[in-house]
Amino acid sequence: MAKSSVRYDVSSMSLAAGGKKRILWADNDMPVLRLVRERFAKQKPLRGLKMSCCLHITAETANLARALKAGGAKVLLCASNPLSTQDDVAASLVKDFGISVYARRGEDRKTFYKHINAAIDVGPQVTMDDGADLVHQLHTKRKAEAGNIIASMEETTTGVIRLRAMEAKGLLRFPVIAVNDAATKQLFDNRYGTGQSTIDGIIRATDVLLAGQQVVVAGYGWCGRGVSTRARGMGANVTITEVDPLRALQAPMDGFRVCTMADAARISGVFVPVTGDKHVIRREDMARMKDGAVVCNSGHFDVEIDIPALHRMAKKVNKDIRANVDEYVLGNGRRIFLLAQGRLVNLAAAEGHPASVMDMSFATQALAGEFACKRGCKLDNVVHRVPEQIEQWVARLKLRSMAVRIDKLTKEQQLYLASSGEGT
Ligand SMILES: NC(=O)c1ccc[n+]([C@@H]2O[C@H](COP(=O)([O-])OP(=O)(O)OC[C@H]3O[C@@H](n4cnc5c(N)ncnc54)[C@H](O)[C@@H]3O)[C@@H](O)[C@H]2O)c1
Repeated sequence: MAKSSVRYDVSSMSLAAGGKKRILWADNDMPVLRLVRERFAKQKPLRGLKMSCCLHITAETANLARALKAGGAKVLLCASNPLSTQDDVAASLVKDFGISVYARRGEDRKTFYKHINAAIDVGPQVTMDDGADLVHQLHTKRKAEAGNIIASMEETTTGVIRLRAMEAKGLLRFPVIAVNDAATKQLFDNRYGTGQSTIDGIIRATDVLLAGQQVVVAGYGWCGRGVSTRARGMGANVTITEVDPLRALQAPMDGFRVCTMADAARISGVFVPVTGDKHVIRREDMARMKDGAVVCNSGHFDVEIDIPALHRMAKKVNKDIRANVDEYVLGNGRRIFLLAQGRLVNLAAAEGHPASVMDMSFATQALAGEFACKRGCKLDNVVHRVPEQIEQWVARLKLRSMAVRIDKLTKEQQLYLASSGEGT
């Protein structure tokens, strides 16, 4: 559907008023992105560019889209996950901000790809992805359109892993900037954002008391550290599972118990894989779990739990016994509660990351887009890092917005740090 030049397929335009309130509320906590928007509005660095962005359609993403539009881009958004769309935000983006949106919460796989194809149909020169589904489509089913792409930005770890695999095989047809790998993104969004919002999603879905609860977190990467630290902060007994010895070694030194998933499964309680890997919780693990185990996922794709195996093990599935909770009654009589169909629990059962942390991720995202599209900026068809100046700028502005002042190197210190002369 199109309203003037704005195209859309959203759940209901009648939800727009509520969505607008959410977008403006989030904007209060996004001072760095707001500065980017204000400068973009004056300088129009993205003038005339068509940008298609496959992202979680949340209030924070809406503010990113506003900044890109202020910069002169013609922006289209489609969903990067079938369950993460905030339908009211999608409607408001169309109605109040004149931004094209193709996203409906709960869309099936066919609609999900129909929307991605709609984002490609408009002939974008720049893309943004959260999980690399749009870029993957441009390298498989829509190869003809890949030639128009100047650059793409990738928001999450799983997307960067997919893109590096494409680069290694020499398949990448345009440059990509790994926004996920910027310190201003990974150290804060993945850790504190995923940490808080995953706990939020589990609590909203189940109303579980975390104090005294057993929580098993699979993966002690940036996200895993965030989830486990936040769970412990609320009084849970946290166990970590890992496959990387260096990551695994950090967990006991941070005070967590570490064991295999086979052993952790017997502990039971709440299970949260956040690894970016497949079938981290398998059939044999679920067979060991005690009655009432809660299983959810905060990794990018819904493959971390072997859900097909859970289906096969179940003699009965009671859907939606509570919002975002399905009850699987196993052959052994025990019940497993699966949250949000195994999709990102923080976005499906809660609101995703708080705006304050997305402020840094999306300011970095917008500035990386500006950098990649600068006239004369010729990037190779590989995965690039975000330029250091962008990270420094975002970090300084964020500190300023928090009224935190830091010291400056003196001349003497600069010289000392740059020399090898002084020793014992
Ligand atoms: N929920 C969200 O909103 C959100 C936000 C950011 C990232 N993510 C996603 O979360 C996932 C993790 O991201 P990250 O930045 O923490 O990645 P990371 O690479 O820092 O950490 C992943 C960790 O998982 C471990 N791991 C891999 N396979 C494992 C297995 N079978 N068992 C136990 N541990 C295993 C790895 O060794 C690594 O330490 C990715 O899919 C990423 O896209 C989700």
